[in-house]
Amino acid sequence: MPVRVLILILAVATTLIIGGCRDRAYDGEQVAPGDKLVIRFSHVTAENSPKGLAAQRFADLIRYRSQNQVEVQVFADSVLYQDGEEIEALRVGKVEMIAPATSKLAGLVPEWQVIDLPYLFSSVDQLHRFLDSPHGADLYSRLEEYGVKPLAFWDNGFKQLTSRSRPLIQPSDGAGLRFRVMINNQVLVSQFSLLGAEPVPLLFSEVSGALEEAKVDGQENTLSNIYSKRLYTHQPYITISDHGYLGYVVLANAEFWESLPGEVRELLEITLAEVTLWEHREASRMNAEDLVSLAGESGIQIHYQTAEERAQWFEKLAPSYSLLKHQIGAELVDAVVAAAAEGGGGLPGFR
Ligand code: SIN
Repeated sequence: MPVRVLILILAVATTLIIGGCRDRAYDGEQVAPGDKLVIRFSHVTAENSPKGLAAQRFADLIRYRSQNQVEVQVFADSVLYQDGEEIEALRVGKVEMIAPATSKLAGLVPEWQVIDLPYLFSSVDQLHRFLDSPHGADLYSRLEEYGVKPLAFWDNGFKQLTSRSRPLIQPSDGAGLRFRVMINNQVLVSQFSLLGAEPVPLLFSEVSGALEEAKVDGQENTLSNIYSKRLYTHQPYITISDHGYLGYVVLANAEFWESLPGEVRELLEITLAEVTLWEHREASRMNAEDLVSLAGESGIQIHYQTAEERAQWFEKLAPSYSLLKHQIGAELVDAVVAAAAEGGGGLPGFR
């Protein structure tokens, strides 16, 4: 039976079982605390974000399917480790799983910055196809050199621009403003520098406060992050630009992963594959739903970038491609551009 079909059957069966058993207590008393395998899964977004919901679903399914023998403890919202700390915490075994944004993996493997190139992908399918290609496999395997085991790719969505003081319609509208960018990433820094703006790298947990205190004027993020962290509160202008992609690599500590009994690892892998399919649908649904919610907030002005404007922004930001080639070599950058073009997307005239 194809693996996909097997996973779907398992998914439906478990959803029905869990649905039917929601009010029944787990038989935790049958398991001595010392016998239980605990997996600490730390992440930085809200519980009600695509990543937060998927991590919790994974935990719930594992708890049920292992009959309480394996407990995935989810720590959301940077309560355990922040962006700047979680990769190191994973590597030294202070937690067993994390799911950092690909943008932040550049601190370990700068090649991951190809995903951040502005206006590169025009659909999530293009991005998935690239990550499923030999180039994507190479990106994942480079991570393994650092003692971490890539297990899955989770979506969030395309990033949009927000600002405090004026709508961002023309590329020149960003000039002179300060924009928060994710840490560890030169492509994102160059993107805002090319606009004549000042890029300010900040941890995710710092963004809301920095916007409130006007330490930065704007930022880029997905609609689900903008909504779930209420980043729109001090950012009345939103531009739907879809200019970059935010997704996550689910990682385990490699030594821990290899030490697991085969059947436990198999349960985790099958369940993660199933949760990943669910997460991809959920991320897309949540971002669409959060756009509707944001549009309903009073005082929020949403501008949809036109094709002409996209071309202008791309022209302004295109030098970031050469900068990245300079940093990591042309081969991978050319490959990702070709992969995006193959899917029929991208900007006419660039390729
Ligand atoms: C995340 O989605 O994990 C955080 C993104 C950000 O730092 O803006």
